[in-house]
Amino acid sequence: MTAIDPRELRNACGQFGTGVTIITTHCEGRDHGMTANAFMSVSLEPPLVAISIAKSARMLRNIQSSGRFAVSVLAEGMEDLAWHFAGKPKLDLRDVFERHNDLPVIANAAAYFVTDLADEIIAGDHTIFLGHVREMSLQPSTRPLLFFRGRFGSLADPHPAPAMLENAAYEFVW
Ligand SMILES: Cc1cc2nc3c(=O)[nH]c(=O)nc-3n(C[C@H](O)[C@H](O)[C@H](O)COP(=O)(O)O)c2cc1C
Repeated sequence: MTAIDPRELRNACGQFGTGVTIITTHCEGRDHGMTANAFMSVSLEPPLVAISIAKSARMLRNIQSSGRFAVSVLAEGMEDLAWHFAGKPKLDLRDVFERHNDLPVIANAAAYFVTDLADEIIAGDHTIFLGHVREMSLQPSTRPLLFFRGRFGSLADPHPAPAMLENAAYEFVW
């Protein structure tokens, strides 16, 4: 078996286009945010979401210590926030956060989830955190910021109108 080169693995995974989130928590009197695209829905009943955080990230210990985290799904045009919370701080953050259930979330995000830590799984150089969703909100007409091949982007095509979805030949229900 040939060894897997980490850089090639990252490039191959970069073919999987994702949205972009900011993970937030509140720890020792301070708000902390981190950009992440390793986010997924896990379960509807109970309502669980998952994130994957590198061992080297300060966010790892902050979530372990607070036992809570929020996930804000970034909207189109929020690249500055994504860079800011990925270690390239350049924004005045006074207007960035709003509070829900005592956790900071990004104002005007496409969606947010406020969670209690339900479980954590050590996975190589990352830890997967499962969050039990306690509060959430979404902006149905907001378009998402996207991440593909290491670059930010946006949807090329407009959303299909809800009427078109109702008449669609296939319904995506899971
Ligand atoms: C688009 C994008 C997605 C990222 N996704 C993740 C991720 O899912 N998990 C992770 O641990 N780091 C991810 N990172 C890197 C972290 O944002 C970065 O290491 C951050 O500075 C860590 O912050 P902290 O040490 O203050 O917690 C991502 C960075 C970018 C730009």
